[in-house]
Amino acid sequence: MRKKITFLGSGNVGSTAAMRLAELDLADIVLVGGVHEGMSAGKALDMDEASPLEKHHSRISGYTNRYTDTEGSDIIVISAGVARRPGMSRDDLLFTNRDIVHSLVKKVVPGSPDAILILVTNPLDAMCHVALEASGFPRNRVIGMAGVLDSARFATFISRELNVSVENVCAFVLGGHGDTMVPLPRYTCVAGIPVTELLGQERLDAIMERTRNGGSEIVSLLKVGSAYYAPACAVKEMCEAILKDKKKIMPCSAYLTGEYGIRDLFVGVPVKLGSDGIEDIIEVSLTGEEHEALERSAESVRTLVRIIRGMDGKKPDSPAGSGPRPRAQTRVKRIRDEVIGQGTCIPK
Ligand code: LAC
Repeated sequence: MRKKITFLGSGNVGSTAAMRLAELDLADIVLVGGVHEGMSAGKALDMDEASPLEKHHSRISGYTNRYTDTEGSDIIVISAGVARRPGMSRDDLLFTNRDIVHSLVKKVVPGSPDAILILVTNPLDAMCHVALEASGFPRNRVIGMAGVLDSARFATFISRELNVSVENVCAFVLGGHGDTMVPLPRYTCVAGIPVTELLGQERLDAIMERTRNGGSEIVSLLKVGSAYYAPACAVKEMCEAILKDKKKIMPCSAYLTGEYGIRDLFVGVPVKLGSDGIEDIIEVSLTGEEHEALERSAESVRTLVRIIRGMDGKKPDSPAGSGPRPRAQTRVKRIRDEVIGQGTCIPK
């Protein structure tokens, strides 16, 4: 029986990841969504027509707003949502994307009760909470794609700085997928050599700062939309680890129930990915300073989760105070209206 991966969201991340996975010949692919009628069907047909050239046997189909073909999915990748625009933080997207993720999960879960959900939509860690609650799935089957991307960015910058192969760098990043993420040089090595032996603190600090801002750097260059090649490759890595039951340790957003002293929160940590999804959460010892940085990052996720649950004393739709800035909220609302007004298939 062939495996099936559904992509909810056929924008740049979803469709690029779909193509990469189709080429691996591991699963059939179903794309659902798109900002106009026919977008997913068109992309799917285009990819399908590449199969004789790429010599794979994955069947690829696409639908605007139909979910029957998603039934029996082994993995469901959710990247639907509004992308960041210049000047917007990942957190500004909170409310628009919460509604989108919640409604999509409710639509697909009945037909794929055993699927593993991989979240890509931002703000990532908060969206994992939405998916966990909407699906009712156990925590091993709801995973956020972030650390794989963040550590790839960290590794790229280190390899460029040292002028060594990217294959030599094994980078380590903890924490939420946001400006508070915690790149950890102490656990990052180059051909087994701790990076701290090869780079001075000043260069490392600059590289860590660039890693934290890796998403924004690309948003400000692209002007429209956000990064997708590296995010799509990160999704591919995770799907491959799951479908091949690799038991591969990768940094992912996982629901912690006391690990790292953090409870009931999605935060990026090293996990073992295999056919059951998150098969283990790996705890490493942290210095006081590293632990504080992780706690700060977890706190920013906790704040967003409180806001989406309406637990900050404000209405979930009109957050203030610790939530996103009011101007950002107005901007997000305008964008949501624009997107929905375009006749998008984003479900209401
Ligand atoms: C980024 C998006 C995918 O970091 O969150 O580019």
